[in-house]
Amino acid sequence: MLTLSAAAAEAPRPQPKSGIEYAGSDVRALQADDFGNPGMLWVARGEKLWNAPAGRSEKSCASCHRDAPATMKGVATRYPRRDAGGGELLNLEGRINQCRVQQQGAETWRYESEELLSLTAYVAHQSRGMPVNIGINEANRVNFERGRDIYYRRQGQMNLACTHCHEQNAGRKLLADTISEGHGNAYPVYRLEWQSAGSLHRRLRACYFGVRAEQPAAGSAELVDLELYLASRARGLRVETPGVRR
Ligand code: HEC
Ligand code: HEC
Repeated sequence: MLTLSAAAAEAPRPQPKSGIEYAGSDVRALQADDFGNPGMLWVARGEKLWNAPAGRSEKSCASCHRDAPATMKGVATRYPRRDAGGGELLNLEGRINQCRVQQQGAETWRYESEELLSLTAYVAHQSRGMPVNIGINEANRVNFERGRDIYYRRQGQMNLACTHCHEQNAGRKLLADTISEGHGNAYPVYRLEWQSAGSLHRRLRACYFGVRAEQPAAGSAELVDLELYLASRARGLRVETPGVRR
């Protein structure tokens, strides 16, 4: 039986490798080509929404944030994040929905809705090429520790933890997939199997399903804590949104 101490989990790691490095050459070529990458459609939709919201009475994102390539540059490298004033830990989707409610007086968008996916892709895309830059501090340490506990916890009927696949078996084949290190730096991604773009939480839910564990809801505190832990593991990897996956 495997035992993992917190100390082992905090030991220095080799430089992380992005999921794209484990992908086949066809997928790599598609991600690298902005004209062929289907994820760019969601980025383009996000740009439209940024400038002109659907609701008549709503202020557009642009009316407050102006030019996203300038004002949103680097933002995704710092998420999930907790506001200086406290409040809950928010990932990018949660932060966008907070602006929906508090700044636009509108209702939150559902996870995987075209609007939330597109705007998340658009905002994250403004950080493409910049390194993930998550620091663990007093404000987020509790979330980090919860996320790390989940990462090393065996679960589901298959009794496997994230670490068993993404640390101990990265590079090995699992059915048609090559297991990667399990980083979130390319999300939202366009996944060929989904025939759609999808959020990181959709991917995480698929991993829970894979080990026959109960799936937490997208946007739940459990998945945001896990996302923070993943971001800390991915520190230094460059944001690639929108990624392409098989
Ligand atoms: C009425 C003004 C207003 C509108 C409209 C608005 N926001 Fe915001 N937004 C803010 C304020 C104020 C903040 C917090 C200030 C800050 O952290 O820079 C913020 C913060 C953010 C952040 C986090 C930035 C960071 O540096 O952490 C994101 C992302 C964001 N907004 C996205 C959006 C999106 C997407 C929309 C449109 C759906 C939108 N906002 C609409 C005022 C607005
Ligand atoms: C039984 C093995 C297995 C387990 C356990 C597992 N995953 Fe995965 N995971 C996969 C496979 C296979 C893929 C698709 C190929 C890839 O990108 O690794 C994947 C993909 C991912 C990705 C997307 C990587 C990318 O670049 O697109 C993330 C993130 C991820 N997993 C995180 C997790 C987390 C967090 C857990 C624990 C809750 C977990 N996985 C548990 C097998 C597993």
